[in-house]
Order: sequence, then C-alpha cells, then structure tokens
Amino acid sequence: MATQAGANIRVLIVDDFAETRENIRKLLQFEPDIDVVGMARSGREGIQLAKDTRPNVVLMDINMPDMDGIQATEIIAKEVPIAQIVIVSVQSDTDYLRRAMLAGARDFLSKPPPADELINTIRRLGQMSRQRELLAATQPPPGTPGAAGHKGVGGKIISVFSPKGGAGCTTLATNLALALHSGDNKVIIVDANLQFGDVGVFLNLQGKYSLVSLAERADEIEEDFIQSVVASHSSGVKVLLGPPTPEDAELVGAGQLKKVLEALREHFHYVVVDTAAVLRDVELTIFDVSDRVLLVATPDIPSLANIKKFFDLIEKLEMPSERVWLLLNRVDRRGGITAANVEETLKHTVRGQILLDEKTVLASINSGVPFVTGAKSLPPVQGVLDLAQKLREEFAPKEAATPADERGRKPPAKAPSLFQRR
Ligand SMILES: Nc1ncnc2c1ncn2[C@@H]1O[C@H](COP(=O)(O)OP(=O)(O)OP(=O)(O)O)[C@@H](O)[C@H]1O
Ligand SMILES: [Mg+2]
Repeated sequence: MATQAGANIRVLIVDDFAETRENIRKLLQFEPDIDVVGMARSGREGIQLAKDTRPNVVLMDINMPDMDGIQATEIIAKEVPIAQIVIVSVQSDTDYLRRAMLAGARDFLSKPPPADELINTIRRLGQMSRQRELLAATQPPPGTPGAAGHKGVGGKIISVFSPKGGAGCTTLATNLALALHSGDNKVIIVDANLQFGDVGVFLNLQGKYSLVSLAERADEIEEDFIQSVVASHSSGVKVLLGPPTPEDAELVGAGQLKKVLEALREHFHYVVVDTAAVLRDVELTIFDVSDRVLLVATPDIPSLANIKKFFDLIEKLEMPSERVWLLLNRVDRRGGITAANVEETLKHTVRGQILLDEKTVLASINSGVPFVTGAKSLPPVQGVLDLAQKLREEFAPKEAATPADERGRKPPAKAPSLFQRR
C-alpha cells in the first residue's frame, strides 16, 4: 500500500541504544513508502528533530537519559501535532502505558517490535498523519478572516454521558454550564436526551422552541435564529431545550444534531450537551464532535461494570480515550468505594469527584436553581467548580499556543473523527 509519489511516510526513531535505532532503520529501509528521516538518542534530541523534520510517525522509547519518552511525547504531541507517536518499549507496565497515552501517544509496541506489526502500525498512523497534513495544507491559516471553521468563536463541545441512567448527568451538566459561564465565556446547554430530557425542569425553564426547531433548519443556522430559539436562564446561560414530547425525538437525526452542535460552537465558548443513557447513532455522533466526553460513574458495582463495558467499547471503536474524562458522582465521604479503588479497577484516571448530598441536590432540582450558585461550603459545589476550572485550563493555554492543533481550532466538520467506525 504505497502512498502517492513524494508523499512517503516520514519516520523518526528516538532510542538511546544505537543498535536498536539501527535495527529499526534496517527493517524499514526496504519499505518503498516509508522514509526514516531522523534518529535521536534522547528525548530532548527527539523533540528537536521532530520540530526540524516534522515526521508523520515517531517511534519513541521510554527509558532514556536526559528526558524520558513520556515527557518527550507530551512535548512533541503539542508542538508537532501532525506527528503520531508510537511507544516502543520493554516497559509494558499499564501505569507507564496509561501515562504515555495521556501524554498523547497513539499506540504501543513491545520491544523488539515484530516487523509486520511495526510496519502496519507505521502505515496506519502514517496515513492518518498524511491526511491531516493534506487537510492543513488546504486550509487558510487559523484566524484568517473568513477561514472555514473560524468564522466564530470555535468553542468547545463538552458532552456528559453515563451508560447507566440516573448517574447524575443532568445534575452535572446544568451545574457545570453555570460554573463555566462568565463574562468572557458564553455558554449554552443542549438537552440531547431526546426522549426524556429534563434540562428544562432542572433549570425551571419552558419555551416554545426546542432542539427540533434548529434541527429542522440545520443547514441554515444563523446567530439570529439561534437567539430566537434558545431559552435564557437567569445566570446568563442559554438553553436549547429538548424535543417537547418523546415522539418528537425522531425529528432530530444524528446528522442534524451534529450540524446544530457545530453551528452552536461558533457562537458559544462552551456547548454543554446532556445525553441519554443509551448508545445509538445520536450518542456516537455527539461523542464524535465533542472535545471532551464527561463520563459519569457512581461508586457502586453496577455503575462501574457498565463504565468498564463502555471503555471496552471505545477501545474497539478506536475512540481516543484521552478525550473521555471519567468523573465520580455521589461520592460518600463516610466511606465506600473510593476514587483510588475506581482507578485501580478501571485503569483510568478519575478527573473529578462530586460529593453525595441528597438534600442539596434535591432541593436544587425542585427549585430549579442549580446548587453551584449556592454556598461553596455545600458538599457538591466544590467538585463542580474544580471540574470547570480544569476544563478551562485544559483548553485555554493550548488554544493560545497551538491554534492549529487538531484538538483546538480545526474546522469541526473536517476534524478527525473521534470514532474510526468499522
Ligand atoms: N451528588 C449527588 N448527591 C445526591 N444526589 C444526587 C447527586 N447527583 C445526582 N443526584 C440525584 O440523582 C438523581 C438522578 O440525577 P440526574 O437526573 O442528574 O441523573 P441522569 O444521569 O441525568 O439521569 P437520567 O438517566 O434519568 O437522565 C436525582 O434525583 C438527583 O437528585
Ligand atoms: Mg438526565
């Protein structure tokens, strides 16, 4: 499967052992579509060479002098986003792998890598990188007036999902929307729990229009139209209510919903999407356009069993797991399953915790006033504020430093799919 002439896959090898570097180079030299463009002896040298040669694929060792492969991966992933990094290491400890994946690595091969596996991995990731390269070459520079995908604010889509109903998605989504809202950040919450959504109930809002109105005109969504359709919460957060009746859910197709969300991200800094506890085309499409999927678990065995199934599924679908943030809701300070237990069982980092507090949460739902507006001393408030802060930090510096980064400003319609559907 050779690529076009002049478009060979450029590979950088980073390993402190000369023999390993040479062996890999020899193994690749007979592949007509692969060029080894550089070999580095350390993480630091690897970063420099990655900047100089802009490889499609980087083969990265972990244990090296001066800077290890995980740190180098993190820097290369940020500075040369086109480069797809494969960890090639004797370290197969899951903790190392998880850290490498969080740092931005795409794949892992054990050392010495079997020839077939190495070449297939390079080709697969190389093709992905080449496609992004071509896409970038056809785009006007970010920020150019009228550049596709940059006509608006290029906001972040944050969806909230749980494979098990009642985990607290709507509670979290409504409170998070308020916590993210500020003078600088315009926020909209979208009720994409199409049949039994209750964002309107949680925020004590009703309206004549809903998601159905935007979905019906998904190809011609202008700002005026959005403003005339959304409801306004007293906090300033805008609300796109769900379909008025369960039967109306079928009026919103996955493709239309995708267009609606992409239109909204051009007018709002954060688009928070509440979802139903099912996995159909609609939910997969929402994940596909999401910058982060907040996966809500509760600290009990049935919830964790379902979360495990979800992680297994996204692995099969090749959804980058770093976009999924695992959260724990209803955390009981008095004991029970802890975040550490959950991390140990699921092998995923818990990115946020919201404390159990029936009284506060129920009172807030019944009054239609999210608890995050209440005293900071209320048990569940801090967890939501911390999460909002982490999300802001996650996005703000990267946007400024690497505007063309695939996770940032690329036009959503052409952004790499979160799922490689098979
Ligand atoms: N941190 C918490 N402490 C106590 N109760 C909570 C907490 N979070 C949510 N709840 C309660 O759990 C119930 C379900 O919450 P919510 O409706 O937000 O879940 P959901 O995941 O959106 O459910 P659905 O699957 O029905 O959409 C609510 O009655 C709410 O009061
Ligand atoms: Mg809900």
